Amino acid sequence: MRVLVTGGAGYIGSHTLVELLTEGHEAFVIDNLSNGHEKALSRVKQLANKDLGFVKGDIRDRDALDQAFSEFNPEAIIHFAGLKAVGESVEQPLIYYETNVAGSVELLKAMDAHDCKKIVFSSSATVYGTPQYLPLDEEHPVSPVNPYGQTKLMVENILKDWAHDGRSATALRYFNPVGAHVSGRIGEDPHDIPNNLMPYIAQVAIGKREVLQIFGDDYETRDGTGERDYIHVTDLAKAHIAALGVMNEAAGFAVYNVGTGQGTTVKELLAAYGKTIGRELPFETVQRRSGDVASSVASPQKANETLNWSATLSVHDATSSSWNWQSQNPDGYGQ
Ligand code: NAD
Ligand code: UFG
Repeated sequence: MRVLVTGGAGYIGSHTLVELLTEGHEAFVIDNLSNGHEKALSRVKQLANKDLGFVKGDIRDRDALDQAFSEFNPEAIIHFAGLKAVGESVEQPLIYYETNVAGSVELLKAMDAHDCKKIVFSSSATVYGTPQYLPLDEEHPVSPVNPYGQTKLMVENILKDWAHDGRSATALRYFNPVGAHVSGRIGEDPHDIPNNLMPYIAQVAIGKREVLQIFGDDYETRDGTGERDYIHVTDLAKAHIAALGVMNEAAGFAVYNVGTGQGTTVKELLAAYGKTIGRELPFETVQRRSGDVASSVASPQKANETLNWSATLSVHDATSSSWNWQSQNPDGYGQ
């Protein structure tokens, strides 16, 4: 299949491209490089030993979209492009609504204009808000608690309205993506100080940051620290291909959790990383981060059954691949 990948130069996009190309699909990327890396794309090409088209452009820019659609004539879209920092979305909500919501609408308009009828969208477990029960299944009420989560839910609702008359849309609600490609050639390289736990730990391990701050140890969890469902980025990448595989003209709109079903606490993840690198990593406990929940764990049953997809990689695979990437590329892609 010819697949146009928005945000393909980013963390999850680059890993998905490797799997897509390796499976024999053709791919083309549109990315404005605001948080992505052109070098990631050249490494994707080397890893898959395949060619890959690229337009540097913004999904809010209809001319850039038209250029990508005209050059490549995609049969499907995987839509990663967007902004993802929860704290920043509280400070600057309009740029989140403009990029994530208006940008997605522009993309759907371009799809209609170029008769492209399939889209897989990066949604997030954050749409559930504070869990009322665990594990979270797709029937759990949605109630995002920040503008970033609102944008994800809004786009899901737009896709639901759009997906008729032969159009199909699948929203994948990612839990916590971690790890890197097994080769260590591509990985997560945020342009700013990492917001998320695993890339922060990786930078402590390589000596770029002194100490991990643990945001609260008084939650109702096994050891008092926050519990999350960490999904290896390679497993997550494969879920997109599984989703494309079941989409057809009658599919309409569908939503799936993408997680492992297993929870890991902050202290457990830190200990696992320490074991991988053979030394304990420094931490200090500070107060809770506002907006954090105690636990978030997926029920991946629907994806397991309907997409015939399940996570196969462990937390150990995630820490060792993350360290492989971080130690081979101490400065990330070096931009
Ligand atoms: P990322 O920042 O590494 O990748 C996003 C890519 O989109 C970047 O390469 C960036 O340059 C590009 N981009 C941003 N705005 C753009 C625009 N207006 N036009 C064109 N390109 C643009 O992030 P990621 O972790 O790979 O996340 C990918 C998607 O998955 C995002 O939509 C994110 O919200 C979603 N998601 C991520 C997580 C996570 O924890 N990483 C969890 C749930 C959902
Ligand atoms: N944490 C720390 N110290 C840090 C960073 C995080 O203790 O420096 C803790 C958090 O308090 C939380 C856990 O580590 O308990 C995980 O935090 P992350 O920031 O890595 O992930 P979140 O679960 O907060 O959020 C992530 C993405 C969101 C997405 C959500 C659900 O950042 O975009 O998963 O998919 F919406």
